[in-house]
Amino acid sequence: MIRVIRRAQSVSGVVQLPGDKSISHRYAMLAALADGSSEIRHFASSLDCRSTLSCLRALGVEVSESRGILTIVGRGLRGLRAPRGILHAGNSGTTMRLLSGILAGQPFETRITGDDSLRTRPMRRVIEPLRLMGATVESQDQGLPPLTIRGGDLSAIRYPLPVASAQVKSCVLLAGLYGDGPTAVAEPLPTRDHTEIALRRLGATVRQDGPWIEVDPWPDLAPSRLDVPGDISSAAFFLVAAAIVPGSQMLMPCVGLNARRRELLNYLEEAGLDVTVEGEFVVAGESRGDLRVSFGERLLTGQLPKIEGARTAALIDEIPVLSVLGSQTAGGLEVSDARELRVKETDRIAALVCNLRAMGAEVEERPDGLVLGGGARLKGADIDTRGDHRIAMAFAVAGLAAEGETRIHDAGCADVSYPGFFDTLAEVTGQPND
Ligand code: S3P
Repeated sequence: MIRVIRRAQSVSGVVQLPGDKSISHRYAMLAALADGSSEIRHFASSLDCRSTLSCLRALGVEVSESRGILTIVGRGLRGLRAPRGILHAGNSGTTMRLLSGILAGQPFETRITGDDSLRTRPMRRVIEPLRLMGATVESQDQGLPPLTIRGGDLSAIRYPLPVASAQVKSCVLLAGLYGDGPTAVAEPLPTRDHTEIALRRLGATVRQDGPWIEVDPWPDLAPSRLDVPGDISSAAFFLVAAAIVPGSQMLMPCVGLNARRRELLNYLEEAGLDVTVEGEFVVAGESRGDLRVSFGERLLTGQLPKIEGARTAALIDEIPVLSVLGSQTAGGLEVSDARELRVKETDRIAALVCNLRAMGAEVEERPDGLVLGGGARLKGADIDTRGDHRIAMAFAVAGLAAEGETRIHDAGCADVSYPGFFDTLAEVTGQPND
């Protein structure tokens, strides 16, 4: 499907964002391991989270949905059943990597695969710690999916993570629930901590000591009522749209503001964006509040702060749309330490460079990032999304500031994290929805 985007006069209105994808995956998996029935409100509508639910169903977990509330009947840590066929994680790295940790603790064999993109993504990063814990994990050459996992009771490990990855950290912590003692991981840089927060909320003991995060095994996970905040990574597209289209004003109610994810707001505020948080409150350890943003000339006339080191790790999902923003600010943007972007749903550095150049921006590609010359007068182009949801949405936003028509190819991939994105974009820009 091709979506056509035209230059916008303004971006205005109220956007109800889908539930946070990362939190939804974790709530579903932990609810499945709890003893009894949990209710989850505002569960993400994303295809990725649907993949997690279908894997859980295949493992014998009852999942139902009524009037927007998801009910998951947990089977306890030892209650999952051997699936009849191969589990399918679709496009979702989070499903495959987190679930691998849980599967490593099961006394049966499971095979898990994914779509063409997921089958090219590195899994050694989870295979190695799970093998150290005593699970048998087989893969295709070079650690690629499908994975075959045979597990059981595991040995506890103390594992320094070789990459800053919340997925790998979570995989090891979830396997640690099946350990013979406390399992610990050390992060080279802080990453999103939704797993730690959700584990504590459901009754597990998780300790933090400097970079080390340690979980005690065999907790009694209690069923819970949970509520997922809006996805701040989805909010990023509208924040940047408001930043580059004069006259814009938007309100996004109840957006997740976890300290490790709100770096996006800190960054945009530092860059000069007029964005405020209203009515912040915390539910189940996860903060949330309303975001109000309006266009201001100041941001576009300056230079974006460099994205590097810990900031790169914190903004990893937002770098595609921040690069679009960088092309529009007078001083441009430099992104480094972002090698991980090359192994996301697609090589996001290559996809950004090629599509930004197609739109007329000046971009230098680096092995671990990119440098954007600022102030580009973008022109509409055919955008090759490479099936990557964040590339599709980032370039839809770029199209709002471009002359002529921007054609987003395979735009349906946005459903991976944000079903309805293009409809909402059409509403807030007053453009025809084609
Ligand atoms: C995620 C972690 C990040 C992020 C992904 C979701 C998670 O991946 O890019 O979209 O939910 O844990 P990595 O852990 O590979 O950095």
